[in-house]
Amino acid sequence: MDPSRLGDAAHRGEEQPVVSFRGPLVDRFGRTHTDLRISVTDRCNLRCLYCMAAEGVEFRPHSAILSFEEIERFVRVAARLGIGKVRITGGDPLVRRGVLHLVEMLAALPEIRDLAMTTNAVLLEEYAHRLKAAGIHRLNISLDTLDRKRFEQITRRDELPRVLRGIEAACRAGFRQIKLNALAIRGRTEKEIVPLARFARDYGLELRFIEFMPLDAARQWRSDQVLPGHEILEILRENLGPIEAVVPDVPGAPASVYRFADGRGRVGVIATVTEPFCDQCGRLRLTAEGKLRNCLFATDEWDARPLLRDGGTDDEIAQLLLAAVGAKKKAHGTDTGEFAAPEQSMHQIGG
Ligand code: 5AD
Ligand code: SF4
Repeated sequence: MDPSRLGDAAHRGEEQPVVSFRGPLVDRFGRTHTDLRISVTDRCNLRCLYCMAAEGVEFRPHSAILSFEEIERFVRVAARLGIGKVRITGGDPLVRRGVLHLVEMLAALPEIRDLAMTTNAVLLEEYAHRLKAAGIHRLNISLDTLDRKRFEQITRRDELPRVLRGIEAACRAGFRQIKLNALAIRGRTEKEIVPLARFARDYGLELRFIEFMPLDAARQWRSDQVLPGHEILEILRENLGPIEAVVPDVPGAPASVYRFADGRGRVGVIATVTEPFCDQCGRLRLTAEGKLRNCLFATDEWDARPLLRDGGTDDEIAQLLLAAVGAKKKAHGTDTGEFAAPEQSMHQIGG
C-alpha cells in the first residue's frame, strides 16, 4: 500500500482499508483453494536434468523478486480468503539469503496452520534445526537415488553425501512430517525404486514417486518417458511384499499412499500425468517474481508485484486472487494431445 494513503486515512480518522471480500476461494468447478505454494527464488545449487539446463541458466535479478515483506503481505490477504497452508519452495529455498526470517514472518500468521518447505537438502544439515525453530512444520526432500554416481548424473553436482547428512539432520530436528520425493522417469527410476523404498522404511519416512512432468528446461519431455505410478507399485509389490492403500489424511491429497504389511515406512505415487487429480486441486502458486498461477501448467499468470510494490490496496490483491481462481481450468490436459507446456520450467514456477 502507498504509505501516504495510509497517512491520509489516519489523519481523517478513517478506518484503514480492509478486504471487503472474505469468503473462500471457490472456482467455477466447486474447488475450494486453501493451499499456496510460494517460490522464493529461481536459483538452485543443483542442476537436475528434468528441471534446469546444465549451463547458462538466466536468473532473475534480486530487484525483480518479491521481498519478504511483499510475500508476507500477499499471504496475509490470501489467509483472509481461506488460505491456511503455505509451502515455501524454489529453485531451492535455502539458497535465498535470510529465508529463516521469512519463515518466522509466515509462522506468526495465525491463519497459517500448516507451513511446509520443499528442498533438495544440500543445505539442510546447517538449516534443519533452525527451520524447525523458525516455524516450519513439514519438509519435502527431493531424492532420486542413493547412488553417488547416478546422483551426479541426474543433478550434475556431486552432492549426495551432503544431502544424506541433511536428511539425517532433518530426522533429528523434530518436524511433524518429512517426505522424500523421487522423480519417476522411465529408463532411470526403475532401479532406484527398491533401494529408495528400503531407505525410507529404515528412516520411517514417506517416499513418493512423482511422474516426470513436461516442465523441464530442455523441453525434452515425451509422454513415453513417464514411468507410470501403477508400474512403480508393481515393482514395490514384487520386491518388498504386499502393500495396502492408506486413506489420505487430507481430502484431495495428490499422492496415493500405501503402507507395507509390517507398518514401517510408506510409499506413494503422484500420478500427475497418467492419473490427473485436477478435480481435487485446491492449490495456487506465487512465483519468486510475484506472478500468481492457478496451475503448475498454466499459461496465464496474474501479476501481484505491481500491486505489492506500487500502492495497491489489500482489496486489489484479493481481487487478483479471485480472478486467478475464477479463471482456473477444469484440468491441465497433459494427458491430452492439446497440451501446450508453459514457457517456464520447474525451478521458475516452484515445485
Ligand atoms: N517433473 C516432475 N517433478 C519435477 N520436479 C522438478 N522438475 C520436475 C519435472 N519436470 C520436482 C523435484 C522436486 C520438486 C521441487 O519438483 O523433484 O521434488
Ligand atoms: Fe534445483 Fe529442484 Fe530443479 Fe533440481 S529439481 S535443479 S533441486 S529446483
